[in-house]
Amino acid sequence: MAKIWEGVTDGITDSLADDFNSSVRFDSRMYEEDIKGSMVHASMLGLKGIISQAESEEIISGLEGILNDIKTGKLVIDYSCEDIHMFVEAELTKRLGDTGKKLHTARSRNDQVALDLRLNLRKEIDEISELLCKLIGTICDKAEENKGAIMPGYTHLQRAQPITFGHQIMAYAMMFLRDIDRLKSTRKRLNISPIGSCALAGTTYDTDRFFEAEKLGFSEPCLNSIDGVSDRDFVLEVLFCMSAIMMHLSRFSEEIILWSSWEFKFIELDDSYTTGSSIMPQKKNPDMAELVRGKTGRVYGDLLGLFTTLKGLPLAYNKDMQEDKEGVFDAVDTVKMSLKVFTAMLKTLKTIPENMKNAAGKGFINATDLADYLVKKGESFRNAYKISGRIVADCMKNGFVLENFPIEKYKEYSKLFDDDIYKAVNLEECVNKRISFGGTGVKSVENQISVVRAKIS
Ligand code: ARG
Repeated sequence: MAKIWEGVTDGITDSLADDFNSSVRFDSRMYEEDIKGSMVHASMLGLKGIISQAESEEIISGLEGILNDIKTGKLVIDYSCEDIHMFVEAELTKRLGDTGKKLHTARSRNDQVALDLRLNLRKEIDEISELLCKLIGTICDKAEENKGAIMPGYTHLQRAQPITFGHQIMAYAMMFLRDIDRLKSTRKRLNISPIGSCALAGTTYDTDRFFEAEKLGFSEPCLNSIDGVSDRDFVLEVLFCMSAIMMHLSRFSEEIILWSSWEFKFIELDDSYTTGSSIMPQKKNPDMAELVRGKTGRVYGDLLGLFTTLKGLPLAYNKDMQEDKEGVFDAVDTVKMSLKVFTAMLKTLKTIPENMKNAAGKGFINATDLADYLVKKGESFRNAYKISGRIVADCMKNGFVLENFPIEKYKEYSKLFDDDIYKAVNLEECVNKRISFGGTGVKSVENQISVVRAKIS
């Protein structure tokens, strides 16, 4: 097939090479950004007198027509084109004749693709931030409902101290808030306009890059045209943000998988977010959570893949850079799907506070409170720790828990013990005494919820 760059060569390439070279299958999703960028470029060319006003207007309305036709399905993108930029330009020329051929004055596909990708990822960042806000809102609602649901908090996956389910899941709200913040800061660095860098060196035409940057919502044009076409840091940053979101979702998924198992049964997933087994009739599998956990590896792969692609590239543009898109689009799509399904799964799951409480009552998770009781009565913490350890061992050996260990037995270990020990080791007490800022006490969790809600509203 003869190419637009026919000249030095005959422009005829092997069809296998064409297929290999083509990116239109995946970059066509940027058609809107490509056309909008071209409209602003045409308008700048007209304003600066590089093409006539009439030509500029004709190109803009031609592009508008193409955009509408693609949107309404009247125009189907031709997958035999090299990429979306070539397709739009070819279609414009088909519609306008020679005037269409003037659009590509004072630009190159190198700055064009850098522009399209920035515009596209900027839009995705905004959508993903919205989805994160919805997830955080759902976490706050669940935390509010379960701010008094006592469960064991774990370290090393061993029962450690009593906490509430509300407190536990609010920890995830903090992580997702940081994810939004990371996206925001990535957006700031991404929001610099490369258009007008041209192939790499700028141009001899009297262009106005500031006009183009402003019209496309960028904060400024990039300062160095070589950097403008070579930089893919913004793609890496987006991929890092996607990886962090998936990592947070994956940890949360892992807990949901554990909590919904028969060994824990702290929660029950709604039927609509589980699957059955083809052979075991009793099964209700947490596939959604497992898939989110599984897909995390893929998103990390997208990040590492691009790091590796870029590492040895000389300046400026190299075709290797075409490999930036599939990975980041895959990561963005995976994150959006995962966030949507995870939020719906969380919203519909039911907590089973009796089972949480039951688990909390079995693991001596109030042993720290036992030690603290003695400290408050004048014992040193190290001695109190030792005494408490011995009492726990005694309880385990003789089938007691701290709540029903007889007072005479307590007194054998220290004369500081009195009847008020039972209040001190009561689980509700243990939770509600943790009034330190950020702690698990109900008041603290209420405060966390209200601060977080204000941040996402
Ligand atoms: N499809 C190319 C990409 O995604 C567009 C830029 C092509 N530039 C070039 N000089 N061949 O990177």
